[in-house]
Amino acid sequence: MPDITVTPLTNAIGAEIGGVDLSNPLDAMTKEALSLALAEHLALVFHDQDLTPDQYLAAAEAFGPPMRQHYSQHHMPGYPDIGLVWHRNGQRPAERWHTDHTNREHPPLATILYGVEIPSAGGATSVANMRAAYTALPEAERHHLATLSTVNSLDTGKTDTLPEDWEQYSKPIVHPMVRTHPVHGSRAVFFHITKTLYIEGMSPEASRTYLGDLIERMIQPEIVYMHKWRKGDVFVIDDRATMHRAHGDYDRSESRVLWRIIVEGDRPRLV
Ligand SMILES: [Fe+2]
Repeated sequence: MPDITVTPLTNAIGAEIGGVDLSNPLDAMTKEALSLALAEHLALVFHDQDLTPDQYLAAAEAFGPPMRQHYSQHHMPGYPDIGLVWHRNGQRPAERWHTDHTNREHPPLATILYGVEIPSAGGATSVANMRAAYTALPEAERHHLATLSTVNSLDTGKTDTLPEDWEQYSKPIVHPMVRTHPVHGSRAVFFHITKTLYIEGMSPEASRTYLGDLIERMIQPEIVYMHKWRKGDVFVIDDRATMHRAHGDYDRSESRVLWRIIVEGDRPRLV
């Protein structure tokens, strides 16, 4: 077995990975071990990494092929598969619970964040275990959710979406609201509240109300890991069975820069 350590961070979600330098090529056994650790723990932390953009992209490939992010104004110059998460780009921290890029036929397997500049306080990223959230629902609601599908597009509330991105990425895409994890075999609740145009058979208003209510009821502190950033952290989030959010509670005169890569996953399905 590769010489890596996997240390759980909470009882429900998250593990710290030791013994891996992501600036070096990873062998097949290490990649397999990381894929299994991600499926099991849903969020992986690698501390003290020192990566160029090329090294970071190569490390991300261990999890899947990088996919193009749809707000192209935030791409790193010269590296269109790396997104810059940076409020000085005119972005606001994504503070609502969500999973990424559900408007794609093959949404990301994982979102990978690399901490480049970290504020002195605040600015964490939280991740919730939506597998545990599903299990905790009453049986009747689990059955009901398993019959529902969401229709997804780009966020309609954003005013800075470029016309070419809208053209390419706004086509409605239908996903099941409960999906089976292709590696772990378990089920999880899967939706993005502001990318859901509506739940099939429901009005947009009723859909939004129901999804907001679900988030409120499902995401409890015991299924959440809050990652307090250190410079050099790489944080890998399994988008197939989690939701995440940023915390905007940091001083905007300080810099918070994360490099984001998303890697492509399977087409969500319920089996
Ligand atoms: Fe996100």
